[in-house]
Amino acid sequence: MFCESQLLSLRADISGKMSPSRLEHTLGVERMAVRLGELYAPEKIPVLVAAALLHDITKENSFQKQLQICDNLGIMVSCDEKNAPKTLHAITASAIIPSEYPDFAVSEILDAVRWHTTGRAGMSICEKLIYLADYIEDTRKFEDCVYLREYFFDADPSKMSMSDRLIHLDRTLLLSFDMTIRQLVDEGSPIHVSTFSARNHLIIDLSGKDSPDNSMFI
Ligand SMILES: [Fe+2]
Ligand SMILES: [Fe+2]
Repeated sequence: MFCESQLLSLRADISGKMSPSRLEHTLGVERMAVRLGELYAPEKIPVLVAAALLHDITKENSFQKQLQICDNLGIMVSCDEKNAPKTLHAITASAIIPSEYPDFAVSEILDAVRWHTTGRAGMSICEKLIYLADYIEDTRKFEDCVYLREYFFDADPSKMSMSDRLIHLDRTLLLSFDMTIRQLVDEGSPIHVSTFSARNHLIIDLSGKDSPDNSMFI
């Protein structure tokens, strides 16, 4: 595993490769990932920090450049991805880590970066935390982001048992997928199939948990 000095180097490197606004967002995701990591998986904080720093490294590339990276690396791009170009940077960011940031090419980081935009069925704890950190980091001011941030923290997860805390995380993610799907429908935009899969999986998972409030998901 990597050490703090490697994370310092990574932070310095990515700082020189993105616009000030993208960097501000990226550092916001890093801060939020640490905050969420403290609640759910303190031992994963170095992994979460690295994934947060790397999650948007190709976001400012053009659509053509994203396709070119996929082509060069032999990655098949689905119709869903071509129709939802905003999701493509998660694929390309994850794909270039092994060659450009080999110290961080571990599956937990690659997967957290890969699935940070669409989610997927059966997300790992690191995938969930990076997905949520990206959505609710403090510099995000969109109405849905503010609402979801308040929904998550106003319930005071630090006072919950770990099992309730995990249910709260899944409920928050479910709400985020609902809001994302609703917004894409309103815009008339395509919705990635992985987002539906992620939502379906959470609903089934939550319906099986023994909690009085879960009746709403059954
Ligand atoms: Fe992103
Ligand atoms: Fe992001």
